[in-house]
Amino acid sequence: MSGEKGLLVSKIRDGTVIDHISAGKALKVLRILGITGSEGFRVAIVMNADSRKLGRKDIIKLENKYLSKKEVDLIALVAPTATINIIRDYDVVEKYNVSLPEEITGLIKCPNPNCITRKPREVALSRFRLLRKDPVVLECCYCGARVLGEDVEKYLEA
Ligand code: CTP
Ligand code: ZN
Repeated sequence: MSGEKGLLVSKIRDGTVIDHISAGKALKVLRILGITGSEGFRVAIVMNADSRKLGRKDIIKLENKYLSKKEVDLIALVAPTATINIIRDYDVVEKYNVSLPEEITGLIKCPNPNCITRKPREVALSRFRLLRKDPVVLECCYCGARVLGEDVEKYLEA
């Protein structure tokens, strides 16, 4: 954040800060991570913070919570500019950009209603291959149906 003057939420001692989320996407990031607030760890969400790089950005702070790299990379589906900061004893000990995994399993519903992964009695988890990163193009491994760009949000599993 640009200086500590405009700090709305205090620094955390340990945990994860998801920074540089495009403004308006914070809740979608939480959704993709499956974080509801009932897990017990403290969550801070700042929306529309000032950012030199993005103009406006959202920030999420997860206290005493660490995510796997794979989990975190799914954030790229809705917030490709996000950066992940790992905090230990108030210091940023690791920082990296999110990047989409080549395969995404069990997170996005196939848009094809006849796909085997949509049949209530089948146990097949949805599985998509990443065809293109920006804008995102995903292809169902079972039926070949594609999910494009912003539509990803529409097809997120509940
Ligand atoms: N942060 C935090 N608690 C800490 C340390 C950092 O909440 N103990 C937050 C900062 O407020 C910031 C993010 O983690 O939102 C990254 O921190 P830092 O790398 O210090 O900030 P910048 O240098 O501005 O990061 P960048 O270069 O990625 O913009
Ligand atoms: Zn399909």
